[in-house]
Amino acid sequence: MLRATLPRDDFDVREAGSAEEALDVIRVWRPELMLLDVNLPGLDGLSFCADLMRKGCEAAVILVTGEQVSETTARLAGARAVARKPFSPLDLLALIDRVVEKREFVAGPSAVEEGQLLTYARDLATIARAERHQRRLLQDAYRQTTTALAEAVDVRDRGTGLHAQRVRRYALGLAAAVDATLLDDPSLEYGFLLHDVGKIGVADHILLKPGPLTHEEELLVREHPAAGAQILRDVALMQGGGLSVVRHHHERWDGAGYPEGLSGQQIPLAARIFAVADALDAMTSDRPYRSALSWSDAVDEIVAQSGRQFDPRVVDAFVSDEPALRAVYEDLSLVA
Ligand SMILES: [Fe+2]
Repeated sequence: MLRATLPRDDFDVREAGSAEEALDVIRVWRPELMLLDVNLPGLDGLSFCADLMRKGCEAAVILVTGEQVSETTARLAGARAVARKPFSPLDLLALIDRVVEKREFVAGPSAVEEGQLLTYARDLATIARAERHQRRLLQDAYRQTTTALAEAVDVRDRGTGLHAQRVRRYALGLAAAVDATLLDDPSLEYGFLLHDVGKIGVADHILLKPGPLTHEEELLVREHPAAGAQILRDVALMQGGGLSVVRHHHERWDGAGYPEGLSGQQIPLAARIFAVADALDAMTSDRPYRSALSWSDAVDEIVAQSGRQFDPRVVDAFVSDEPALRAVYEDLSLVA
């Protein structure tokens, strides 16, 4: 049981069935800590502990006992703590850490009253809760970092960092309306946020030009999806549909988009969904060369582009989900 409790990566464990066997082990190997059962065959654990201390043994001893050995008795024998059986494996690990840290006697946890199996179940629940909490913290940290990077790209291009937040929410809402299983892929959200990261490579005088672009300038702007996918290709969070959103968010259903001119179902579904979200936000935002369209004009334009710029299935989902998307628009316009 003890061997199973002590993680192999953290502890180098040797076992002995009696005080005599333990002496043989420590003759050739110096442990930092000994877990000593009081009820040993032959010499009992308390006497053995006292013997070890008299001989100058430097290992810290934790007495393991199901009997009523008082802390005073354990302390007099030179032990540094008492672990009372049955005990929780997590409590034992915490006790070992405290004993190794401190040089004086450490009060051990009381024996558990609910039986070993229930104790294991409780420990398992504690570990699962801690793991879930850590995972959530990590996901929040990833999302915050990604959002900060997306906002940095946005601020340069559009003067505010709200575009990435709006398209993220439009695209997540649309994805749920088209096929909720898409959201099982966590990379999509990062792809939605970082879709335009490749614009880092587009010069200011082109990106911020208040008038129409020349043909050459247009070609340079059209490099940003492939450039973004190249920048993010080895990022673990992007592996999955997220990277394809970055690469294909300017493809069109009719094949007239870029960078690859894919058409119809050749375009990854998440990228088809994102294209609608991105266009919706572009149309309802002021740009250097034109003012924003009204929400209803933008909706009409998206519907008019069904089967041309956009996947008809995505446009159908857009029409049925439009009130929720409008609520996002109003929510984030208030922030601005
Ligand atoms: Fe883009």
